[in-house]
Amino acid sequence: MNAHDQPLQKWPAKKIRQTFLDFFQSKGHQIVPSAPMVIKNDPTLMFTNAGMNPFKDLFLGQAPVVHPRIADTQKCLRVSGKHNDLEEVGHDTYHHTMFEMLGNWSFGDYFKKDAIAWAWELLSDVYGLEKDRLYVTVFEGDASESLAADTEAATYWKNWIAADRILNGNKKDNFWEMGDTGPCGPCSEIHVDLRTDADRIAVDGASLVNQGHPQVVEIWNLVFMEFNRKADGSLEKLPAQHVDTGMGFERLAMALQKKTSNYDTDVFTPSIKTLERLTGLAYGKTTKVDIAIRVIADHVRAVAFAIADGQMPSNNGAGYVIRRILRRAVRYGFTYLNMKAPFIFELVHTLATEMGDAFPELKEQKDWIMRIISEEEQGFLRTLEQGLVRIDVMIQEIQGTTLEGKKAFELYDTFGFPPDLTRLILSEQGLMLDEQGFDKEMEAQKQRSKAATQIKTDDWTMLQQSGGRTFLGYDQLVCESRITQYRSATVGKKQIFQIVLDQTPFYPEGGGQVGDSGKLYSAHEVLEIINTVKENGLIIHVCEQLPERPDAIFTAEVQATSRHQTANNHTATHLLHQALREVLGVHVSQKGSLVNADYLRFDFAHVSKMTDAEIAAVEQLVNQRIMANLPLQEHRSISMDAAKEMGAMMLFGEKYGDEVRAIQFGQSIELCGGTHVRATGQLGLFKIVSEGAVAAGIRRIEALTGAGAHQWLGEQMQELRAIKASLKGQNALQAIEKLKAEQADLQKKLAQLLQEKASNLGPELLKEAQTFNGVRFIGQTIDLDANAVKDLCFSLRKEPALVMAIGSRTGEKVTLSLMVSDDLVAQERFNAGKMIRELAQAIKGGGGGQAFFATAGGSDFSGLEKAYQQTIEKLQTS
Ligand code: SER
Repeated sequence: MNAHDQPLQKWPAKKIRQTFLDFFQSKGHQIVPSAPMVIKNDPTLMFTNAGMNPFKDLFLGQAPVVHPRIADTQKCLRVSGKHNDLEEVGHDTYHHTMFEMLGNWSFGDYFKKDAIAWAWELLSDVYGLEKDRLYVTVFEGDASESLAADTEAATYWKNWIAADRILNGNKKDNFWEMGDTGPCGPCSEIHVDLRTDADRIAVDGASLVNQGHPQVVEIWNLVFMEFNRKADGSLEKLPAQHVDTGMGFERLAMALQKKTSNYDTDVFTPSIKTLERLTGLAYGKTTKVDIAIRVIADHVRAVAFAIADGQMPSNNGAGYVIRRILRRAVRYGFTYLNMKAPFIFELVHTLATEMGDAFPELKEQKDWIMRIISEEEQGFLRTLEQGLVRIDVMIQEIQGTTLEGKKAFELYDTFGFPPDLTRLILSEQGLMLDEQGFDKEMEAQKQRSKAATQIKTDDWTMLQQSGGRTFLGYDQLVCESRITQYRSATVGKKQIFQIVLDQTPFYPEGGGQVGDSGKLYSAHEVLEIINTVKENGLIIHVCEQLPERPDAIFTAEVQATSRHQTANNHTATHLLHQALREVLGVHVSQKGSLVNADYLRFDFAHVSKMTDAEIAAVEQLVNQRIMANLPLQEHRSISMDAAKEMGAMMLFGEKYGDEVRAIQFGQSIELCGGTHVRATGQLGLFKIVSEGAVAAGIRRIEALTGAGAHQWLGEQMQELRAIKASLKGQNALQAIEKLKAEQADLQKKLAQLLQEKASNLGPELLKEAQTFNGVRFIGQTIDLDANAVKDLCFSLRKEPALVMAIGSRTGEKVTLSLMVSDDLVAQERFNAGKMIRELAQAIKGGGGGQAFFATAGGSDFSGLEKAYQQTIEKLQTS
């Protein structure tokens, strides 16, 4: 049977997902939506790489537990750092870049016994997996870290499964860690053996567990969180014990649908079918085509979901990871599926149909995501073509059989060629890539980009165990605080210090709004707070020095003027968003925002340039609402459902809790954590100062409010007054139009005059000619433009035995024109085109042309005399 001719499926993907959630709901779990896959406020992680990431602070005891039991399906991406599966994707049949992790969590509630019992109940009783296909592993302990074997988990497993199916695993497989630091603990994995009965009789499944066999795979990992791995490498016991489980949704589908590849399940077959239609190729016939199809079916999910979360492909950080994944897919399509035009974007249709119910962000932004992917494909296909031309030239120039690492790096850096593409093309010509040289260049580049941005932090010095998340800044700008913890950090080469307070009025950077600055002072000292950021909910104050007496009582005081101006600009951003939707349409959605004390910047989805009338209409709406002095209606803790009912606008890619904050000014209602004015009148004035494109389909507006807007208008008025004064009080626009017409007229007349001058000049110049070796020579610098000089030279080309070298200048540019009369050319005595190359050096330039007329452009006016002299020497010696 063809892989995608699915019979009526007992366990279609959608039912598998829903059954998981229903099961854990019946066990008292709160079901929550997936958090964004792109992480915004954790310097140790770019993407969610495990279902537990969004709950990191709950495990560490740094945030209050609202629901002790939670379950969800989480979008994860494993393409960088500790968990990186990129190279395996497509080549095997069960690794993915983006995948769904079904998870259930206990925060200090149930532990190993229930986690194991429920996992078993769900897999065997509910889903009906055959028990004799299942194996479990438990942690065998690790002496080097003084960690004991997990006999407790083994004992519980014995209630459900035969002892010979419980296997011991080492620290690599059975001690789960999120990254270099963070919560961790022993884990117990469940593996499923999907081989045929004959194979299972021939080779014992137990011997294949964790051996990379494509049909004996891990499906679920139950982690028993008990420790925190600290930056110094040591393990610290957590205040409570937690459960973190993660089940690979795609692999579970493979097991339940009785397939031998994740790609044969209905998670992927719809995309594969679309790819077959788009490429005209069949899946399941040749290895190379199959790999390419799997790679693309996988990669488009990662890219589409990242864009849905607001992460645009770009040249750095998370954006570059997304761009690389997409380029990898484009390259597989180009080379193995012969796809030379964008096509990957079309798969988003299929994804939205298949996954849009579980992940509405995909369905609602479908057109937008398709546009971005299509533009990216187009962009890379352009450089791919050019890169192919460039690599051809490089191949011609190769001496020996190896392409230098530097050149391969140029292909990578300039044309976006992944090295494997370069390697492939080289191998077709029997050539190789200097791998070491390439790695060296890559490493050097990595160091260059790392140095500037990477932040390295030491462990916290703890003064108090709790606190650090209480923000008082919506209501007050000053409060009394105590330091709960501090640490030093380096950003590039610069050392900074980070301080956490039990309570703070300082707003941490977020939602586009910059972090507050201000002062932290005690009876002993004053510290400048230069910025405030948030890390997993912890509010961190950035300082250039450490407190000498950290245990003192401090006053934390936000810089009030900038906070007020920032609030003006944040409120204006909401009013602008609303006005844009009214003037341009409801397709306008926020794609980026920056709010600081000086101005606001707002990026939004809209295809065409705004007209002057549209800009004026938007400004007018915002200013009307400022004049109406609309009061702030802050709904500080309302349920998400209540906010939705009010019609609040939400942003995709934000992580919202159960309780949200909605900010309302008149009809504008947005979910927002930022700081705002009490009433819109405080904004005074709103002025758009620029509108332009930032990327395909995204426009950017920059605007000012209050004093900034007044100052800008004042400057504009001053300029206008100066213009009017200079035009002596006439109507400025009419006067300028008149001046422009007059200038055009004058220019025409000037050109005529110059032409006349040039034709009269000929006979004059001939009178001054000197003769060398029977050839007349004119060498002069003339105040004419290049075209007039050309006319002059052409008017004298029929003169007998004449050579002319004429210098002229326009602005900084020096031109040397050389004419050799027709008879001399015919006799092949001189060739202007050849002579000019040497003469050009005198004016520090280059040139060329024909035998009778050639020109050179240069920058050294003083070199003209030397050029005339050299021409004379040439005549004398010929
Ligand atoms: N954190 C574990 C994993 O990612 C279980 O969720 O495998």
